[in-house]
Amino acid sequence: MIRGEKSAPWRARARATIDPVQLSIIVPTYNEAPNVSELVRRVSAAVDGLDAEIVFVDDSTDDTPDVIEAVAATAPLPVRVIHRAHAAGGLGGAVLEGFAAAESDACLVIDGDLQHPPETIPVLWERFERGDVDLVLASRYAGGGTSGGLADRTRVMVSKASTAITRAMFPVRLRNVSDPMTGFFLLDRRSVDQALLQPRGFKILLEILARRALRVAEVPFDFADRHAGDSKASFRQGLHFISQLAALRFGKMSLFAVIGGLGAVANLAIVWALTQLGVDYIVAAVIGAEATIIGNFLLMERFVFHDMRDQASTGWVRFAKSFSFNNAEALIRIPIMAFMVESWHLSAVVATAITLVVAFVVRFVFHSLVVYAPRKPDAEPSAARRFVDELDRQATSPGEL
Ligand code: GDD
Ligand code: MN
Repeated sequence: MIRGEKSAPWRARARATIDPVQLSIIVPTYNEAPNVSELVRRVSAAVDGLDAEIVFVDDSTDDTPDVIEAVAATAPLPVRVIHRAHAAGGLGGAVLEGFAAAESDACLVIDGDLQHPPETIPVLWERFERGDVDLVLASRYAGGGTSGGLADRTRVMVSKASTAITRAMFPVRLRNVSDPMTGFFLLDRRSVDQALLQPRGFKILLEILARRALRVAEVPFDFADRHAGDSKASFRQGLHFISQLAALRFGKMSLFAVIGGLGAVANLAIVWALTQLGVDYIVAAVIGAEATIIGNFLLMERFVFHDMRDQASTGWVRFAKSFSFNNAEALIRIPIMAFMVESWHLSAVVATAITLVVAFVVRFVFHSLVVYAPRKPDAEPSAARRFVDELDRQATSPGEL
């Protein structure tokens, strides 16, 4: 639903003057009603002389869209609001929707709470206009930038640590980027491949930078205090971020491996704890194995295959498939290992290692292809082929060049 289309005077103006919009300013908003008018006022003043528009992409549950429409009516530049009925992809999804709806290829993203000073927009624009980069970001950590607006010392530490880890994980792509977590940037939307992006929560810029090598420049800025209202950052966003990092860096298959590794450790811990309590070791081993299988399933649902769940069979069917597979696999693996040791004269350690690696790959393939298979298989003959391609893409995407 696009609100404000009729009331916005900018369509008529754009046609009358035939001036193309030079800059589209995209503002994702979630319950920011008390900040809208001040934001529009300061943005308008900052971009005076530039043909700019403001596009709010709103997922609010309060009256923010109405406030935006009221402000739009008297604003000195075109302002519109796209209110999304389904907040797909959260903040990141809203930004992508803004790119799609923008009048101009030059798209600037800025928060709606005035933590990103609109007065920095002309600085970003000037740098962008030189034409030698695809993206200019406003950095809290580049020379002269500050992060004073971060709520408390914990958030400062979390921000600094996650920035450092992220840069370490993408040493090539983020070589010239001191603040990959900033939500304040200006890019040429033609330089990003929207089909490749999977917006997960807050860190859309990281997604953009990690997926493709872009020419990037930075300008420093002062991260200010919130004008009004509350931050929407949360522990849940933090978890999203970790899974985003892992998925971006390693692809699904490695996230799957990480969870498998955690499961193995948990399995050992359970067996150890139960035998300490005097439980028979066979019973302890069975409980440890089953608890791990269930725990791994839940983690995979949440973090590895979350984007495939909607098209797949119901949760219980997925669980039944996964649970049977893992139990069957555990049962089969031991005799196969014994066979390798007896007939091929491999050492038990080597045989175990081989069976575990093979089991890992088979388990990943089984889960991608069977457990999370789309409900209605495509009727086209090339479906199987495309499925394998998709699996390949999921398993390997993306690499850093
Ligand atoms: N449309 C939409 N949908 N907007 C959202 C959503 C959502 O689900 N969640 C948050 N927003 C909007 C907020 O209304 C605000 O305009 C902006 O996104 C940033 O959200 P805040 O709640 O202010 O989060 P923050 O201050 O912790 O995060 C900011 O700082 C980070 C750096 O520490 C943002 O700029 C992040 O992008 C930035 O990475
Ligand atoms: Mn904020």
